[in-house]
Amino acid sequence: YSAHFYYNIIRDNGFPLPDDEKMLSGHFRDDFIWSVATASYQIEGGWRADGKGLSIWDKFAHTPLRVFNDDTGDIACDSYNKVEEDVAILKQLKVTHYRFSISWPRVLPDGTTNHINEAGLNYYHKLVDALLAANIQPHITLYHWDLPQALQDIGGWENDTIVTKFRDYADLIFSRLGHKVKFWITINEPYNVANIGHGYGTAAPGISFRPGTLPYIVAHNLLKAHAEAWHVYNDKYRAEQKGIISITINSDWSEPRNPYKQEDYDAARRVVEFQLGWFAHPVYNGDYSEIMKTIIRERSLAAGLPKSRLPEFTPEEIKRIKGTYDYFGFNHYTTVLAFPVDYKNLQHYDADRGVGTIADRTWLDSGSAWLKVSPFGFRKILNFIKEEYGNPTIIITENGISERGAVDLNDVHRSYYYEKYINQLLKAYLLDGVDIHGYTAWTLMDNLEWATGFSERFGLFYLNHSDPDLPRVAKNSVSLYSKIIACNGFPD
Ligand code: NOJ
Repeated sequence: YSAHFYYNIIRDNGFPLPDDEKMLSGHFRDDFIWSVATASYQIEGGWRADGKGLSIWDKFAHTPLRVFNDDTGDIACDSYNKVEEDVAILKQLKVTHYRFSISWPRVLPDGTTNHINEAGLNYYHKLVDALLAANIQPHITLYHWDLPQALQDIGGWENDTIVTKFRDYADLIFSRLGHKVKFWITINEPYNVANIGHGYGTAAPGISFRPGTLPYIVAHNLLKAHAEAWHVYNDKYRAEQKGIISITINSDWSEPRNPYKQEDYDAARRVVEFQLGWFAHPVYNGDYSEIMKTIIRERSLAAGLPKSRLPEFTPEEIKRIKGTYDYFGFNHYTTVLAFPVDYKNLQHYDADRGVGTIADRTWLDSGSAWLKVSPFGFRKILNFIKEEYGNPTIIITENGISERGAVDLNDVHRSYYYEKYINQLLKAYLLDGVDIHGYTAWTLMDNLEWATGFSERFGLFYLNHSDPDLPRVAKNSVSLYSKIIACNGFPD
């Protein structure tokens, strides 16, 4: 049988299809945020420059076999020394905003405000000033995974004293940069910090031996830390600085593997509840969702544990965390098909979730195993956020696609991806009434893709490693993205 035959079976049975939908013409709101993102460890280099302290990623990447090819961020894109070059390519893209992160140990080498590294802060001043001079608004992430190693040495995100340390760090940054910066993100993808860093262990700090408890404890402290930073901004700086601040949550969309099976629908729902809901429910609705609380409690008690492995918030904490947002910061890349899996008595996140996932064979590949091109899921999860979390204003803080292997500057797959995903965003906005305020492409240029090193390239610009100057070279998708920006959407 031909592929076409299978497509028709798939279509007739209501399975999700590869994106062959008609494109929608139309425009986003007039003050739309068109942005592109990076993160400090992935691009800066300068890992010991001018008094910077070590981060958990410096340590992780310097440990053999942790990162593919033993790549490190020691130099990365050398953005620490290339402010002008970076701003030049941002101008070429014609973005209105640039999302980047601050390296906490570059500013506070031991993680605390006892010692402020002014040289490190100056780098961010220089960058912010250059952006403003180019009429590009900075959108700053305070925590994009490079925790000061000194704080990891006393327990990192597991130790709840991190909450006040993060608050103090945030306070310092608002006081120093807040008169110039109006867009803030507290923490990037807490799901990955909790579950990848402290469950699977394939990201720093690389802990994988307590996957049943530690990710939940870490998530608990991440949520409290986010809330404290938001409150500092709200109480101390908002009136004068007039910015907006939120957390950035990532999630896949999930569909049932078999649309005729209720248990596959339930599994798909659990995927989203355990990833998006883990963080969004406390921030937007208050407390963890009933689904997470019930499942984890029942599984813990059934295993003979005295109480749930999911920590509880006090009523005061629930109140303190609920509502700590000015927008919904959302990172999205892909969709999965879900079906139930009984992990029996195993006590860890995956077993709690009780789901297996696959991708539809018709979805196009990327350079990353976890990322399949599935644009329809973007619109679906945006609608889910609208229904589930009280129709918040959404800023897409990341979306993009990778390639690996041979370099080809004609990155057709990336142009296809951006065109299709951004068009789904437009459909959510114009047809479904989802309140979309902005879109951020991941990422400005090829950079250190965490544990897969430089092998997976998400950049709009190619980073030529064979030239010591590390020139940034435009891929063809640059012109596609800047056309969408110039049109503020899609022409008739
Ligand atoms: C999520 C992260 O925030 C970013 O650092 C990463 O490179 C991209 N997604 C792609 O995996």
